[in-house]
Amino acid sequence: MAHAIGIDIGGTKIAGAIVDELGTIVAQDRVPTPAGDARAVEDAVVAMIGRLRADEHAAGGIDAVGVAAAGFIDAAQSTVYYAPNIDWRNEPFREKLEARVGGTVVVDNDANAAGWAEFRFGAGRLVSDMVMLTIGTGVGGAIVASDRLFRGGFGAGAELGHLRLVPGGIACGCGQHGCLEQYGSGRALLRMAGEIADAGGIGQALARTRAEHGKLDGALVGGLIEAGDPGALAALRQLGQWLGQAAASLSAVLDPQRFVFGGGVAVAGELLLQPVREAYLEHLPARGYHPEPDFVIAELVNDAGVVGAADLARVWVEQHA
Ligand code: BGC
Ligand code: NA
Ligand code: ZN
Repeated sequence: MAHAIGIDIGGTKIAGAIVDELGTIVAQDRVPTPAGDARAVEDAVVAMIGRLRADEHAAGGIDAVGVAAAGFIDAAQSTVYYAPNIDWRNEPFREKLEARVGGTVVVDNDANAAGWAEFRFGAGRLVSDMVMLTIGTGVGGAIVASDRLFRGGFGAGAELGHLRLVPGGIACGCGQHGCLEQYGSGRALLRMAGEIADAGGIGQALARTRAEHGKLDGALVGGLIEAGDPGALAALRQLGQWLGQAAASLSAVLDPQRFVFGGGVAVAGELLLQPVREAYLEHLPARGYHPEPDFVIAELVNDAGVVGAADLARVWVEQHA
């Protein structure tokens, strides 16, 4: 089987693509994520699958569709148990989509899809054990252990954004407190930037920008980071330090050769990785004796979700043929 369709449902956009066996995108599509309920998102995904199936590159028909979603997914790759940042509660997503579009639809966690794409075709190609963290609205996680994507017993493993980092810390959309997501996500970066703005001093440019635009957003803080503003850089450093601490604990459990960072905030590149590495070493158990993993930025960037979702759907169909 050659081509598969991958769909990646993000907070701001839904991306779709026809992907070949080598992970190359041969056709793609993109729409803004509709505001509102789960039904509007479902309609947009159905329409996108229809458009992609009608594409000339789908000639001969494409059965396998992989859909990447930002939530806890079951072992059958069918149901979204829970999504902290979208309105899905025990959502039988696969059943609903298959009923509307036919063929095989496989639902996967968005970060698992991105991590799998990096492992197969990107930054994780040359290692057997890799951990990916996606830094966007939330913090997503993917674990590849001994060349296999780790899913856990109920399918919902590798939710690394909900590792507890701070006992009694900030409330999280998952219902707990102090999760990595509240200290290492794009949203957390904006909160930290806001706190630095409130403190004055190096936060002056952040405060001015906030006053001018009414609030800080990812593009504004990203622009200040790029311009070398000390306040924005301090916020990014804090974020990296939290991520590095989490990585140190993950090393004790999973011992990957490589950590890959993706998602919107990863465009900061080395500016993000430096504090990650520093905090990692500072908090590493058996420091000085434990071999050092690499910390790298994702290679497939915005395409990782669709490429991974398509490949995982292809794998699923092959295993269940
Ligand atoms: C969700 C994960 C998702 C991540 C990134 C988290 O809040 O729990 O399922 O992978 O956000 O979208
Ligand atoms: Na995951
Ligand atoms: Zn949480």
